[in-house]
Amino acid sequence: MHTSGQLDQLNKFQIPGQVAIGTGKGGLSRLLIHTPASEAEIYLQGAHVTRFQKQGEEALLFLSECSRFEPGQPIRGGIPIILPWFGNRPGSPAHGFARTSEWTLNETTALPGGGVRVVLTLPGATAGTSWSPFEARYTITVTDTLAAELTITNLSADTELPLENCLHTYFTIGDVDQVTVRGLKGIRFLDKVANFAEKIETGEEIRVTAEVDRVYLDTTDRVEIADPALQRRIRVAKSGSASTVVWNPWIAKAKAMADFGDEEYRGMICVESGNVAANQLKIPPGGSATLGVVLSSTRL
Ligand code: BG6
Repeated sequence: MHTSGQLDQLNKFQIPGQVAIGTGKGGLSRLLIHTPASEAEIYLQGAHVTRFQKQGEEALLFLSECSRFEPGQPIRGGIPIILPWFGNRPGSPAHGFARTSEWTLNETTALPGGGVRVVLTLPGATAGTSWSPFEARYTITVTDTLAAELTITNLSADTELPLENCLHTYFTIGDVDQVTVRGLKGIRFLDKVANFAEKIETGEEIRVTAEVDRVYLDTTDRVEIADPALQRRIRVAKSGSASTVVWNPWIAKAKAMADFGDEEYRGMICVESGNVAANQLKIPPGGSATLGVVLSSTRL
């Protein structure tokens, strides 16, 4: 949430016809990005990309109709940044504090060819926490694809920084019954709906017929979502990521979530890229680590 003075400061980042900055839902500040190939929306709270849509296509990112847009509350959909821990942590907010923190807008750049690059940072994020100090820098490049790069730098001169990170991407799909996810065959995973039982993915493709909540470990491969109902194939290419999480809450969990519509599980799937559980990062003093994704789509 910004005062009008702070909004004036943000205004210098506007690029006529390409980047507009203003107040979005719940009074939260956001950027609207327009390129010849696509449109995107980014909230400063959480550096949260809430929309990416290619011209002439359905939105690539799913955003719940029931999402909260409130200071300090996570947004349901788009790309929440999960950092510095993944999942529940007793006494602390689920999935870390980065997704509910206000990030600083550092740069907007018009790229040759009409694309737009946006850089946000989370400085001093660890003040008042038990975490070794770090800086997070997030670069989003909007063209006919959406590229996101999250660099964490350990600011300590002598202490190693253990952390988990994840770009928790929600995709729009036309019909969950028809969707298949490929690229995880043979990969070991923790099955969160079976009390974290360790299993191996045997199928060439994954189908969703019940709640799916799986943490695939030691996999750097790209994942593809085939969505016949929208006649679209989504590609999730990644770098600096050893884990992939696949999540669909299905019927009961959808009903239990206040910020998610009862029927919305039919129109979304999360394929998340990061470094979690046994793949958590250990960043040496002064070192940094970059996690990147490139999200693209083609006609099926
Ligand atoms: C997934 C987790 O990444 O995020 C699930 O594996 C979790 O267990 C889901 O339910 C949503 O989490 P949250 O905190 O945004 O409700």
